[in-house]
Amino acid sequence: MTNRKDFLKLSTATLAGLVLPKWSVGAEAALPKEATKSFPTLENMQAEFSVKNNIIFLNNGTMGPSPKRVVDAMIEGIEDITINALYHRRIPEAIDSLSNFIGCNRDELVLTHNTTEGINMMAWGVTLKAGDEVLLSEQEHIGNAGPWMHRAKLEKIVIKTVAVGKNAEESLALVKKAITSKTKVIALPHVPCTNGQILPIKEICALAKTKNIITCIDGAHPTGMLQLNVKELGVDYYASCCHKWLMAAQGTGFLYINKDKLEKLQPKFYGAEGTSSFTTIGSKPNLLEKTGTAQRFQFGFSSGALAASITAAVQFQNNIGRENIEKYVKQTSKYLANGLQEFGKHLDIVTPLEDKSRGGIIAFKFKELNNKSFYEKMHEKDIIIRYVAENDLQWIRVSTHIYNTTSQIDAFLQEVKKYIG
Ligand SMILES: Cc1ncc(COP(=O)(O)O)c(C=O)c1O
Repeated sequence: MTNRKDFLKLSTATLAGLVLPKWSVGAEAALPKEATKSFPTLENMQAEFSVKNNIIFLNNGTMGPSPKRVVDAMIEGIEDITINALYHRRIPEAIDSLSNFIGCNRDELVLTHNTTEGINMMAWGVTLKAGDEVLLSEQEHIGNAGPWMHRAKLEKIVIKTVAVGKNAEESLALVKKAITSKTKVIALPHVPCTNGQILPIKEICALAKTKNIITCIDGAHPTGMLQLNVKELGVDYYASCCHKWLMAAQGTGFLYINKDKLEKLQPKFYGAEGTSSFTTIGSKPNLLEKTGTAQRFQFGFSSGALAASITAAVQFQNNIGRENIEKYVKQTSKYLANGLQEFGKHLDIVTPLEDKSRGGIIAFKFKELNNKSFYEKMHEKDIIIRYVAENDLQWIRVSTHIYNTTSQIDAFLQEVKKYIG
């Protein structure tokens, strides 16, 4: 297992030439060597993020700060209409780059404003009747639980939940056991917001296929954190956002719809993108054929500026290298977990530590001390983390991305140590 010293050695050895943003003090822990080749130069890197120097931002799982070049792209997008009288530009570009990024065809992707919007499209789009079962996990965000539970309330669909196992193998076994002859939809998170565990979605989708169960996955976290490829996952529908790990603008997201499953998902909102034409003159008002792609789910005008931020954010990550990002994210969370393990007498880490089940999120709980007051203290000190209030779990969640350094993690660990006393 890599300990903190090993991590430092590794990082120092692979760091030549890379300088972190101003607020990411401690250049010893930057990106793996391969990333430095295409990464911005020293000056560019320092200008890359605008988060204040005094803030240690360890809550990328809620929202990712956009690199400055992403903000610039957004401003250009606003100027399209405000200065140049151009509209509706940049959206096709964003669909192209994002679909490429997640490994699907452009016809299989519709832009949304967040993960929850995509989840609502799935939850209200699949055909279900009273008594049909939808399988959620015990580790849900309201953004996934809410839409399904709301439909269940209105239409007498049955919600079942399954516990998340200690690791991928156990989670898969639990899902297998939870499936009944009435299970029609598996609507699990790929990475739950609570403990950040990477669930074995590929295996779960394969299992679902053998039983004719629809897979509607809440993918709020993997986009920009892991090398997500929806085709490799074999998922039917996958909702995600671009404002967390991809670090595009707030209010950006997408829904992936496998082309073979397009006709099985009904859009409940309809507008200009949904159909090729309509007539309301004469005795037979008629709504003509639906658009033949996932973009039939788009309704009304959307922001070219937000779309521009997606394209720029994808470019930013592609420049760094997605393999490098995933590697760095996992390396950093391991470093954090190793540090926390030193306080094992006082706290429990609730995120599995096996490599394939751990991404950029580590959650833990103090055994005896008050978790909420620790979270509040950290915020007073400008160390931004997340308190896991879901199901009254009272956990502390720390998420680290490519801009975080070991120095920042050390600073956080020092605070843990002080709190323990
Ligand atoms: C697992 C999970 N699902 C859904 C959501 C909702 O995401 P959004 O705000 O993009 O709708 C979140 C947000 O943190 C989340 O962590």
